[in-house]
Amino acid sequence: MKLLIGVTGGIAAYKACELVSLSRKRGHEVRVMMTTRATEFVGPLTFAGLTAHRVLTDDGEAAMDHIQWAKWADVVCVAPLTANTLGKLAHGLCDDVLTTTLLALPAATPVVLGPAMNTEMWNHPAVQRNLARVRQDGRVIVVDPVHKRLACGDVGPGGLADPADLLAACEAAAP
Ligand SMILES: Cc1cc2nc3c(=O)[nH]c(=O)nc-3n(C[C@H](O)[C@H](O)[C@H](O)COP(=O)(O)O)c2cc1C
Repeated sequence: MKLLIGVTGGIAAYKACELVSLSRKRGHEVRVMMTTRATEFVGPLTFAGLTAHRVLTDDGEAAMDHIQWAKWADVVCVAPLTANTLGKLAHGLCDDVLTTTLLALPAATPVVLGPAMNTEMWNHPAVQRNLARVRQDGRVIVVDPVHKRLACGDVGPGGLADPADLLAACEAAAP
């Protein structure tokens, strides 16, 4: 499977490294795209090393790449997915390379979403509304966050799902 992993700026961004690593061990071809905020949590160089491929970021070098990358992917997985990028997705906004690539995806390409955020954020009506709208649009598989003690100290839903579960959802969705 050609797996395109989108990483956004949540504390769980480091877990995307494990997802990439696991995917490659299972023989998948993996590429990574990141929001600018995500690059503050994990350096693109880490993902470049793990994928043996250039990483797509907003550094301006890769003008039209989002179209090619959107066509390349069999499956896209955005993990962790921030409340912010979920909101953009729900409203069709595309002001960065990650959301632009998501909007440019061929209609048949499945998108696996791994939201992760603080429990209050997760429970916020706006977040739940955005999630419902994205589900309604179709072709997304949401792997719900897990209930745990979060990095902020709160206990509740909001932790990124296990990378193995995210990968299993991608494999199940692959054409
Ligand atoms: C230390 C830290 C941790 C954060 N963790 C999360 C998170 O887990 N989930 C989330 O939705 N936002 C989190 N945020 C807020 C996002 O970074 C912020 O909304 C940002 O605009 C997201 O940008 P992006 O969606 O373009 O990556 C965190 C912010 C900071 C400073």
